[in-house]
Amino acid sequence: MKLNIALLAGDGIGPEVIAQAVKVSDAIANKYGHEITWKPALTGAAAIDAVGEPYPDDTHETCVQADAVLFGAIGHPRFDNDPSAKVRPEQGLLKMRQKLGLFANVRPTFTFPSLIDKSPLKRERIEGTDLVFLRELTGGIYFGERGRLNNGNTAYDTCTYHRNEVQRIAKKGFELAMKRSKKLCCVDKANVLESSRLWRETVQAMEKDYPEVEVAYEFVDAVAMRLVQWPNDYDVLITENLFGDILTDEASVISGSMGLMPSASVGEKAKLYEPIHGSYPQAAGKDIANPLATVLSAAMMFEDFDLAEEAKAIRDAVNKSLAEGVVTEDLAEGEKSYKTSEVGDWLASNI
Ligand code: IPM
Ligand code: MN
Repeated sequence: MKLNIALLAGDGIGPEVIAQAVKVSDAIANKYGHEITWKPALTGAAAIDAVGEPYPDDTHETCVQADAVLFGAIGHPRFDNDPSAKVRPEQGLLKMRQKLGLFANVRPTFTFPSLIDKSPLKRERIEGTDLVFLRELTGGIYFGERGRLNNGNTAYDTCTYHRNEVQRIAKKGFELAMKRSKKLCCVDKANVLESSRLWRETVQAMEKDYPEVEVAYEFVDAVAMRLVQWPNDYDVLITENLFGDILTDEASVISGSMGLMPSASVGEKAKLYEPIHGSYPQAAGKDIANPLATVLSAAMMFEDFDLAEEAKAIRDAVNKSLAEGVVTEDLAEGEKSYKTSEVGDWLASNI
């Protein structure tokens, strides 16, 4: 297969972890006879420095032309500590999601047998956890009307959803549930919020089209609690943008390190793959960041191209590296640790 992949390394540790995903993907291409053409493009603080814009039009064009986008991370402390900054790297991410129409953010949480005791939760609580959040990504409070009133003394952000926006993400949820264990949880706050009541009634109306799927409706506060109590009760969860942002960070630590969880963001056409962690600026340039979330994001990309064997080869190599202790310092716990680039080399040569 010939694949054109836009490569958006971004900021902080982005370039380092992306480089490992490229190594691993090239090793896969070599082994299985595919041809990957990487199309690097600027994004985030790096793009602001170069052209004054975190998601330049050129970058958008590269993404639109590509079969998929592999993305590192964006964000820089220089902007976080400057509330008056006119452009922020994160705006690039939001613009990219919106312009590419990436309305469904697929964020799995699973455990690795060799890391089970690294989780902050007890082994018996998390064994067997394998769940997927489908977070709505282009609507809700992230994109609603916002502003200031009363000379800046009052601020507001609005959460708005159209029924169609709920239907399209719910459809993905039902379809994914059908491929998995036919359990779907709709996470909302329908006891308080009107937008949540729209979510709930929309999903309820769709139940008849998927009679085999057992749907549960749970309030977001209860899910936040149950997620760390009994994570393995859940399978597929759908939720709106902000609830999904918060709950997927919470879920990500179940596996033992935030540096492990991959994600995909998909729309009608575009597909983007990225680790769920951020740009981790403290580690930038040190060759110490864990590249596995990005490498596993590349595996999700192969999976979506119907290259299941290739995806499995990546996951097998990752599992083997974990089992054999070829890990970065976040997972080494006083044992020997490897550099980001060494883990990438090991995975590529293993493949
Ligand atoms: C994420 C991030 C982004 C979000 C930020 C960087 C805008 O936290 O991808 O979860 O809030 O969506
Ligand atoms: Mn987040």
